[in-house]
This record gives sequence, structure tokens and C-alpha cells, in this order.
Amino acid sequence: MEMLCILVYLLLFLSCILSYLFRKHKRSPQQRAKLPPGSMGWPYIGETLQLYSQDPNVFFSTKQQRYGEIFKTHILGCPCVMLASPEAARFVLVTRAHLFKPTYPKSKEHMIGQSALFFHQGDYHTRLRKLVQGSMSPDAIRKLVPDIEAIAISALQSWAGGHVLNTFNEMKKLSFDVGILSIFGRLDSYYREELKKNYCIVDKGYNSFTTKIPGTPYSNALSARKRLNVIVSELISERKEKRLVEKDLLGSLLNSKDKKVQILTNDQIADNIIGVLFAAQDTTASVLTWILKYLHDDPKLLEAVQAEQKAIYESNDGGIRPLTWSQTRNMPLTYRV
Ligand code: HEM
Repeated sequence: MEMLCILVYLLLFLSCILSYLFRKHKRSPQQRAKLPPGSMGWPYIGETLQLYSQDPNVFFSTKQQRYGEIFKTHILGCPCVMLASPEAARFVLVTRAHLFKPTYPKSKEHMIGQSALFFHQGDYHTRLRKLVQGSMSPDAIRKLVPDIEAIAISALQSWAGGHVLNTFNEMKKLSFDVGILSIFGRLDSYYREELKKNYCIVDKGYNSFTTKIPGTPYSNALSARKRLNVIVSELISERKEKRLVEKDLLGSLLNSKDKKVQILTNDQIADNIIGVLFAAQDTTASVLTWILKYLHDDPKLLEAVQAEQKAIYESNDGGIRPLTWSQTRNMPLTYRV
């Protein structure tokens, strides 16, 4: 359900443009596009209040039961076509991707930061995309393997003790820690905790009702987002003072120059860092959650994966030596999972 909800959110914004195209055809009744079933709610506010007055999962599943996997609605000022099937997602993201332009409601743009690459096209977008992709390349990740292993071990230790856990939330914590590592490298624990604390508040408020009334999740999120800017600016100043040239994402953003030899501003860097954390966390956590579920549902496969991992652990003298890059490339069964 969580995965479905994320898919729905992603496609909500992509689909705004589709409904815009449908509306353009209004002029001629003969040419009027056939809209999927659904309700557009009240003028201007659409179904925004219905969405925010209940659990969003219930809102979407009720709609799905009533109208099917493709339905129309109107949320946060956007006429939308909601897509909840893999075929429809493939249509928008793969086979007909050229017909769609990603757009986001202003409230979301404001929260992540207007300079994040999602909200741009053209040279700036291409430049940022290359920088982000570079920070995820095998060369960049290779030297992080022992630190990622340490994060995984620490997570496993925190799960011991027989208490009930929410898998998706635990996977979110894990992917956040790995995200912070690949963006900032090894970070002082004070900054790690401050980033985590404030990012959690942003995450909680991101999909809440848009209002600046103090104390509401959205307003708290806006304040936390401002504090994140301050933290990232401090980290940038520290790097500049120490003249450190690191190959993590922050280092790549700091060293990037465009054709006119312009560097990125602190705000552009902060917006893209928050954007990457946002893009990476829930998506990765959902995939990890599903992997765990399917491993749990297939005891034979789980046993085989455990045996493969145990052999590597033993070849590292029972975990005394850290996992190596070449070992991560040689896990045939785990890779297939
Ligand atoms: C399994 C995990 C992931 C899934 C399912 C996923 C899915 C997606 C999807 C559907 C899009 C929109 C594509 C489009 O508009 O055409 C996207 C964009 C993006 N994702 Fe991911 N993603 C994942 C992991 C990550 C990670 C780990 C990062 C970290 C760098 C990341 C960074 C981005 C960025 C920066 C964009 C915007 C790209 C652009 O505007 O050109 N994603 N992702």
C-alpha cells in the first residue's frame, strides 16, 4: 500500500499536464477528450479537503475501488488524472514519456527548494542531473562500502531485542543515513543528528495541508526547511575554509562550473541536496521493504541468500575485516533478489 501511495503521488504531478491537455480540447465538443471516471469536487478546492481530512491511503483506495486504477480528481489546485497501475505508469514514464512534462504544485516546490533539478529543464537541469548521477556512480560508491556496511550493522543492532518495528520506517532511516553519507561523506554526529531531526519534520509536513498557521505540520516543515538551509550553508563554509576537495555530492556541487564558469550558489546547492534526499529516501525504502517481504514469504530463497552472505562474512574472519567493493560485485544470488 505504501509503494502504491508513493506511485500515486509521483504520478499525481506528472498527470497534471495530461489533464491540462484534455481541458484544451474543451472548445470543440466533437474533439472533447474522454476523461476517466472520477469526481472533480468543488470549484478551485476540488477534493483537497476530502484528501486531507482522512488517511490518504483510505482516500486513494476508496477512489480506486469506486472508479478503477485510472481516475480523475482535483487536488491542491491541480486537475489530475491519478494512475495506479504498472501499465499506466510505464505509459507516462517510459513509452510516452515525451508527451509529459514533470510539474509540481507551488507548495511542494517551495518546500523542496525552487532550484532543485526537478523544477527545471534545459542546461541547468542537464548540468545538475550529471552531477547527481556522478555521485551515484560505481567510482563514487566504491569507497563508501565499509561505511555503508557499518550503517547496516548499526541498524541491525538497533532492531535486536524482540520489539515490533515498522519495516518501512526502519528502511527510511537506513536509506536516509546512506543518503547523508553519499552526499556529505563522513559527517560529524552533531550535523548528522540536526539534519535528521529537521528533515523528519519536513518529511512529515510535505504532504500535509498547505497552511502557514503556526504549529501545523506544513508550517513546522517550512521552518525546519529554513533550518536545513542554515545547516547546509555551515557545512559549505566549513568545506571552503578547510579547502577540502571531496568526491561526494556536496564536493561535486561545490566544484561545478557552467560554460560561463559560474559556480552554484549556496541556495542552489542546498535545494538540490534536499531534493536528492527527498528523491532517494522513500523510493529506496519502499523497494527494500518489498524485498524483505518477498524474502520473508519465500523461506527457501531466504535461506539461500543467508548462506551466500554468511560465506562472505566468514571469509572476512567473521566480520573482523570490512566488506569490500569486489565482494559486493560477487553476490550472484543476492543480486538477483
Ligand atoms: C528504487 C529507488 C528509486 C525509484 C523507484 C525512483 C524513481 C524515480 C522516478 C519515477 C523518477 C521520475 C522520473 C521522470 O520524471 O521521468 C525519479 C526521478 C529522480 N530520482 Fe529517483 N528513484 C529511486 C531512487 C533514487 C535515488 C537513490 C536517487 C538519488 C540520487 C534518486 C534521484 C532522483 C532524481 C534526482 C530524480 C529527478 C531526475 C530529473 O529530474 O531528471 N532516485 N526517480
